[in-house]
Amino acid sequence: MNTLAILWPREERPVPQSTEWRPTRFGRDVHAGLRAAAKAIPAKYFYDSHGSALFEQICRLPEYYPTRTERKILRDNAREIAAIIGADVEVVEFGAGAAEKVRLLLDALPRPAGYLPIDISGPHLTEAVAPLARHYPDVTIRVVAGDFTQALPLPAPLPQARCRVGFFPGSTIGNFTPDEALAFLRNAAAMLRSEGSQGAGLLIGVDLVKDPALLHAAYNDSAGVTAAFNLNLLQRINRELNGDFDLGAFDHYAFYQPTQHRIEMHLVSRRAQTVTLCNQRYSFAAGESIHTENSYKYTPASFRQLAEKAGFRPAAMWTDDDSLFSLHWLALPDA
Ligand code: AVJ
Repeated sequence: MNTLAILWPREERPVPQSTEWRPTRFGRDVHAGLRAAAKAIPAKYFYDSHGSALFEQICRLPEYYPTRTERKILRDNAREIAAIIGADVEVVEFGAGAAEKVRLLLDALPRPAGYLPIDISGPHLTEAVAPLARHYPDVTIRVVAGDFTQALPLPAPLPQARCRVGFFPGSTIGNFTPDEALAFLRNAAAMLRSEGSQGAGLLIGVDLVKDPALLHAAYNDSAGVTAAFNLNLLQRINRELNGDFDLGAFDHYAFYQPTQHRIEMHLVSRRAQTVTLCNQRYSFAAGESIHTENSYKYTPASFRQLAEKAGFRPAAMWTDDDSLFSLHWLALPDA
């Protein structure tokens, strides 16, 4: 029998429209981000249910190579990956989103014991996981709605599992600065390690440094879905924080920054304007931007070095024929 438990920390419950925004983390982070000299809002706030749906659309765009390339790497190497990971593991997914890629892993693994997806978009995740619970009746599924960039208490490991194995596909790690990525990896190592467990590790997808023209196309798709995804952040602020952003007065702007190996996404104010949310006024000069996302790209070597620094042992890596994307198995020393 499988169980579908939903653990929902107070902070992440949906917020009804209100002027009482200060107690929510979203409200506090938006306020701090718009007060800063260089305006910025953390990329994790893209993912309300509308934003999560737009991101799934991005994943199907012809220009957006990461999703289909990673799926192909997973599919082409499933046997080898399954042999390395082995039986009786609890798969912990960081930022599960649509919870689709994990099927490739669960299908390949011999006798997976559990699946514990964590995602900031609680309602979206719960919906996405329901069919999995039906499809994998022998896998104990426990959903955690929460922010895995914060210290997040997880339920105790399943007694029937030999160890926990992290799954972090999609190059979501690219949203972190190298320092934040290191902190995330250290935190993940602590969440995955448990008393007496053997063979724990992290299977992680990492986008690679490549021709900037390909990167540019992937973040400036011709259908405008990435622009809509970026602008939805302002819509979310309007809805949840009682804002009056004029979505027509901001432009999507994304470019590759080669010295830092990252895509930057911004929302650029088309004119001088003032925006009010929850009785606070924020002014924008013409051309001033809100930095909404970084998406760092690594070389296989630069990523391995980071993983080692975090206490993992990089043990295997798979890539596609064009070296667009990489999938790493990072082993953890036995506890
Ligand atoms: C989910 C962070 C991996 O950086 O490619 C896609 C998000 N932003 N298009 C990425 C995203 C714009 C995506 N990650």
